Amino acid sequence: MELPPIVLAGRAVLRKPAAPVPPEEFGTKQLKRLVSTMVAVMRKAPGVGLAAPQIGVSRQVIVLEDSEALMSRLTPAERAERGRVPFPLKVIINPTLRVLGASPPDAPGAGRATFFEGCLSVPGYMALVERDLSVEVSGLDADGEEVRWEATGWPARILQHEVDHLRGTLYVDRMLTRSLCSNEEAKLWIGRPVAEARAALGV
Ligand code: CO
Repeated sequence: MELPPIVLAGRAVLRKPAAPVPPEEFGTKQLKRLVSTMVAVMRKAPGVGLAAPQIGVSRQVIVLEDSEALMSRLTPAERAERGRVPFPLKVIINPTLRVLGASPPDAPGAGRATFFEGCLSVPGYMALVERDLSVEVSGLDADGEEVRWEATGWPARILQHEVDHLRGTLYVDRMLTRSLCSNEEAKLWIGRPVAEARAALGV
């Protein structure tokens, strides 16, 4: 199968809200083909998530998947800190996201986590992004069946990142700007406490 290229930052499709998939398209070959193409592009990259606008399709479709192989560079302690755990393929269409366990106003930062993340559409860089720790997503699969998923830790981060794509938002809109690192430099920070990177970079 000839796979489409991943669209890079600067392309307008990444900056506009994606259209919901209309009811009549569920269960169609066309929608299933879009999903299987997205899964193939994500796995080939390889990445842990992909949104349809990243292959130039302005539709509310996201796919996500994480595996042992993709997290093999992280130590058990780093995995635990991030809440990074493998999960099987998820296909979510027309998703809505809800934050679980909203932080009480007297505890700023509660229920949030800050780590380096990157994006296949912004290759070569990573930055610190604060995300909610626990979210619930609901939407539909390609057959129009309801999908609901409560995600915590890294899966919740991936989910927020991909849903952002459907709103025309990239992680660079949310990043702590002074933390922007080339991948080479980010590699050195990933094994160290985030506080150390923040102090050294003046974040
Ligand atoms: Co992305």
